[in-house]
Amino acid sequence: MLEKQELLYEGKAKKLYGTSDPNVLWVEYKDSATALNGQKKAIISGKGELNNAISALIFRFLTQEGLENHFIEQLSSTEHLVQRVQIIPLEVVVRNIAAGSLCKRLGVPEGEKLKRPLLEFYLKSDELGDPLINEDHIAVLDLATSTALQEIRATALKVNKLLTELFLSCNLLLVDFKLEFGMRNNELLLADEISPDTCRLWDGDTQRKLDKDVFRQDLGDLTEGYREVLKRLGGIVHV
Ligand code: TMP
Repeated sequence: MLEKQELLYEGKAKKLYGTSDPNVLWVEYKDSATALNGQKKAIISGKGELNNAISALIFRFLTQEGLENHFIEQLSSTEHLVQRVQIIPLEVVVRNIAAGSLCKRLGVPEGEKLKRPLLEFYLKSDELGDPLINEDHIAVLDLATSTALQEIRATALKVNKLLTELFLSCNLLLVDFKLEFGMRNNELLLADEISPDTCRLWDGDTQRKLDKDVFRQDLGDLTEGYREVLKRLGGIVHV
C-alpha cells in the first residue's frame, strides 16, 4: 500500500505530496480559487472535489482513447495519484473560439469561431505573469527540445479533437483550454489537471459560461457551473 509522504509543492489550487514510490505523486485538490495572477482570491467550498472528479474523468477518457497521460487513479473525493514527471515550464493553450486574453490582446470579438485551432505558448512564471512566447523563444531559451515541442503540438491538437467531441456530446462548447506536459525518463507525458479551472466551457445552446470565468468575472455561483459540467460528463455529483 502506497503511503503519502512529505508536501513537495503547494500551488494555487493543488497540493503535491511525495509517496513511498519515488515515481508516484499524491495530488490533493484545494477549494481555493485565484484569478488575475493571484490578485483575486477566494475559498469556494466544493471546488476541489468537483475539479478532482472532472479531471479524473477526463484523464480516464483520454487514456481510453489511447492518449497516454500522468493519471494513475482516484483515491478519494479530493485526491488522486499521478506519475512523477519533470514539468516543462510551458502553459500550452489551444483555442477554438475567441475569449479571454486573445480578445484583450488582439481585439477579436468574444465568441468568434476561429477558422482553425490556435495554439499558444506561455512561459510558466508567476513573477513574470506567464508571458506569451513563441517557438523561437522556446528553442533559444532551451525550454523544450524541438522533438518535445513537435510532440507537444501534435498531442495538444489531438487532445483538442478528443475533448471537443467529448464535450459536444454533452452539449458543451470547448472554447479553449490549457495543458501542461512533463518528461518522465526522456518520454513526454501529458500532466497537470484538465478541469473547468483550466478550460473555458460554454453551454451549447445558451453560451452560458460554466467555467472559472464565472469567478474571474463575478458572474454568480462557480460551483453550480462545475456541478453541471460533471453531471453532463456522466459523473456523480456529491457536492
Ligand atoms: P487566457 O484567455 O486567459 O489566456 O486563458 C486561456 C485558457 O487557458 C483558459 O481556458 C484558461 C486557461 N488558463 C489556465 O488554466 N491557467 C492560466 O494561468 C491562464 C492564464 C489560463
